[in-house]
Amino acid sequence: MPTRIEEGQLVLVISPKGKRFMHAMDLAKEIHTHDGRILMSDIAEAGYGGICRSHLGHPYRILKPTVYELIKGVKRQTQIMYPKEIGYVLLKLGIQPGCRVIETGTGSAGLTLALATYVGDTGMVYTYERREEFYKLAAKNLARVGLSHRVTQHLADIETDGFQQTEADALFLDVRVPQDCLHHIPKAVRPGAMCGFLLPTCNQVSDLLRGLEQGPFTELEALEILVRRYKTVPDRLRPEDRMVAHTGFLVFARCMEKPEPFERPAKPEAAESDPDTGVETDEGFGPPSAETDPEATE
Ligand SMILES: C[S@@+](CC[C@H](N)C(=O)[O-])C[C@H]1O[C@@H](n2cnc3c(N)ncnc32)[C@H](O)[C@@H]1O
Repeated sequence: MPTRIEEGQLVLVISPKGKRFMHAMDLAKEIHTHDGRILMSDIAEAGYGGICRSHLGHPYRILKPTVYELIKGVKRQTQIMYPKEIGYVLLKLGIQPGCRVIETGTGSAGLTLALATYVGDTGMVYTYERREEFYKLAAKNLARVGLSHRVTQHLADIETDGFQQTEADALFLDVRVPQDCLHHIPKAVRPGAMCGFLLPTCNQVSDLLRGLEQGPFTELEALEILVRRYKTVPDRLRPEDRMVAHTGFLVFARCMEKPEPFERPAKPEAAESDPDTGVETDEGFGPPSAETDPEATE
């Protein structure tokens, strides 16, 4: 029996051709599609798992979005993290109800949204972003999915300002030069806290590993996650012809207490900046082309 949808709840509406629309329920509104108009009140009545017809009679499926779909539906001006990386990050950082987790940069709030879902109403995500336009975009994206109350947003540059929190349970950095921010971490997290990093190139991973080796970090791990999708045809089961071959590398480490102060390591000459690569922008690695990106949202 489909469940009736209440005012403000999020709803995923899928057309007969598979086009997906995400909306917050507003009983007074209607949706305009290529197949005609659909009253939101009819969608509410059809309920999650139900079918609702446009005024021209086309059947639309009505679903409750999963966290995966919420992440893919984020309005983005930066590259967002992929669900395949986010899933592993949540497990590695030990994110669970009640966790206090620090994250930088907020970007479009793709990862923030997932962290906020899993820390629950007793936890908190402290997220830092240095660019005001992304700070504002993230605020909108979080409000849209009803998670703002689990997130404290900071408009700040962590490289210069550090973090305002202490004793956080976990920390994640998705910034261009994380090794320049490492010296702020020990003051911000509990001893033994898991820290994670996302980086688009091998060179950046090497620079980060060199930085981690100079600080109170142990249990270093570097990896990448590949997802290979299959055509779901039982009699001719085989992989999809194309796959997203690269998104980013993940690095993890535990931050231990260190008796002596941990200073910011001197910057190696060659690692200061590399404006010519085209990948080390604030927006991170560019999005894969829609043609090769089976996860691209509409
Ligand atoms: C690739 S985006 C993050 C995307 C985000 N993880 C998501 O899933 O939507 C990187 C963000 O980090 C921000 N950033 C880079 N360095 C920073 C710093 N030192 N302090 C604060 N924000 C920073 C950039 O402005 C950019 O918005």
